[in-house]
Amino acid sequence: MKGKRVLTGVKPTGMPHLGNYYGAMAPGIEISKIADESMLFVADYHTLITVHKKVDMSAMIMETSASWLAAGVDPNKTVIYKQSDVPEIMEISWILNCFTPKGLMNRAHAYKAKVQDNENNGKKDLDTGVNVGLYTYPVLMAADILSFNADVVPIGPDQVQHVEITRDIAQKFNLNYKCDAFKMPEFKVSIPDSVPGIDGRKMSKSYNNHIPLFEDAKKMRKKVMKITTDSTPPEAPKDPENSIIMDIFKVVATASEVEVLKKNYSEGISWGEAKQVLFECLDKQFSEKRLKYNDLLNHPDELNKILKQGAEKARALATPFLKELKSIVGVS
Ligand code: TRP
Repeated sequence: MKGKRVLTGVKPTGMPHLGNYYGAMAPGIEISKIADESMLFVADYHTLITVHKKVDMSAMIMETSASWLAAGVDPNKTVIYKQSDVPEIMEISWILNCFTPKGLMNRAHAYKAKVQDNENNGKKDLDTGVNVGLYTYPVLMAADILSFNADVVPIGPDQVQHVEITRDIAQKFNLNYKCDAFKMPEFKVSIPDSVPGIDGRKMSKSYNNHIPLFEDAKKMRKKVMKITTDSTPPEAPKDPENSIIMDIFKVVATASEVEVLKKNYSEGISWGEAKQVLFECLDKQFSEKRLKYNDLLNHPDELNKILKQGAEKARALATPFLKELKSIVGVS
């Protein structure tokens, strides 16, 4: 990561859960620490494609920004900003629109999935429920990346196509003007360890089996106590390979803590006690972060100040670059 600019975006979705933390946030923060330059932004205009309620939108932006900061993003090292605070991205997005073949958008996953849904549901108009924002989602994402000529873009596996589209668009532009205005970004896919939820399925808000990251200790404990177990009697030895408590513990705890709990399993530990061990481990890891999270949300001015400062740093890069692009296309 020497000499590289790493950039990634997150859609605001509100308070994250353990699965989000171990799957995306923790690895993302690790990369930002070893990169020479790192940028992280809240992709609020991407969320505007689906969230059309003002209060939901503003709450989610605040919660998502506070989450990343509480989880360990250092605003002195990482430029953290809101996409909507950098208007240059929108102008660059338009320029990129004009180099994006419509057919490329027809083939983008999110749009194709929507069309497929409509087909399966017998809709006459296959574009039902598709706004142009959704259709051109990949162009805005290309603008997010190319506005800063990022070298490396850490993403989840579902976003690979978007970075490939970004490269396509960048190449079309460079070829047309015989220039190298845009760098070809590389993606870095983190295959997230999927964290099991309290019912053993993949942890997800939509299954309602998640453990929210910054919920207060009492509520967090209650969630942990709801983890599905079988009816093995308390003193009977238990199989650590066949226990949701252990599966979650393995993601959260150190190797030696896992060994200790495994030993307890073989000697016989009640499910209630095992859950208490897991809860205490979670509480130890997240109590300080939880305080930080609540503190940021209780001081929105502070949080907004951090985001504004980030936006200023981002604009200091994007403003001259936009000027250069305008001159390349001949509108300046
Ligand atoms: N589309 C990404 C997601 O849903 C979020 C995102 C928007 C992004 N712009 C980006 C990620 C630019 C990386 C780079 O997860």
